Amino acid sequence: MTPSTNTTLSLQGKVALVTGGGRGIGKAITRRLAAAGANVVIASRKMENLEATAKEFAALPGKIIPIACHVGRKDQIENLVKETESRLGPVDILVNNSATNIGQGPALNTDEDMLDKMIEVNIKSAFRLVKLIVPKMIERKCGGTIINIASIAGLRPQPGGLLYSFTKAGLLMLTRSWAQEFGPHNIRVNAIAPGLIQTDFSEFLWKDDKRRGQYEHSTPLGRIGQVEEVAGMALYLASDESSFVTGQIMAVDGGFTAL
Ligand SMILES: NC(=O)c1ccc[n+]([C@@H]2O[C@H](COP(=O)([O-])OP(=O)(O)OC[C@H]3O[C@@H](n4cnc5c(N)ncnc54)[C@H](OP(=O)(O)O)[C@@H]3O)[C@@H](O)[C@H]2O)c1
Repeated sequence: MTPSTNTTLSLQGKVALVTGGGRGIGKAITRRLAAAGANVVIASRKMENLEATAKEFAALPGKIIPIACHVGRKDQIENLVKETESRLGPVDILVNNSATNIGQGPALNTDEDMLDKMIEVNIKSAFRLVKLIVPKMIERKCGGTIINIASIAGLRPQPGGLLYSFTKAGLLMLTRSWAQEFGPHNIRVNAIAPGLIQTDFSEFLWKDDKRRGQYEHSTPLGRIGQVEEVAGMALYLASDESSFVTGQIMAVDGGFTAL
């Protein structure tokens, strides 16, 4: 590829699908993608959050379309892809961001129902979306990019976080395996492993002075992160700026896992 000084961060004409795009990290990613010109479907269970996000970002160059979907349900995932394609066209950028963290606590207190639910929402959702979306990317010979929002918990076990770490580690290996298999079709697959980011999801950690202090103390930048700091990485991975990057786990964690 010829080196260029022009920015390739424009996503004009691209179609993106962001699960969990109505709040937290997914909302920040949606804003960046739509600001770069992509048309974005945002999907999660609560339509009111999705609609509020679409309304808040209505002035951005890219359209934002909310579609209700429980990502743990196969029929709803199939409907999501069908609806996305009929309203915007085939997907170029898939962001697997929705996740749940039930079953936080000692390993022996977790049960199979929790395990099944965590696998359904955190892993099978991505597995199913990839199976529905990637064949069309291959057929269209247009490349494509998949971004899996994993966690540093998928790299290191965390106290009381057995099921969460297990599912995020699974997502990391799906990322690398898909990258290997889809690379010849110029479809790039990367993961982002956020550290502690200030959202509702992680409130039980950052509102706890002791646990927040521990994180800040073991992190070179000495603080927790904000959603926009994860969204910047997602925009990079979605764009041609990262055209030679695949199969990578991008830690956005203030340096926590670097030590
Ligand atoms: N915050 C952190 O410190 C942190 C650190 C590492 C990784 N992460 C990862 O970052 C991602 C986003 O988390 P966040 O911090 O932004 O959390 P958040 O603000 O709680 O957002 C979670 C999103 O997932 C959606 N979701 C949950 N269950 C769903 C289901 N069954 N079907 C469809 N959507 C569902 C939620 O929407 P609905 O409620 O409308 O369904 C919401 O949009 C997750 O993958 C999380 O594991 C977060």
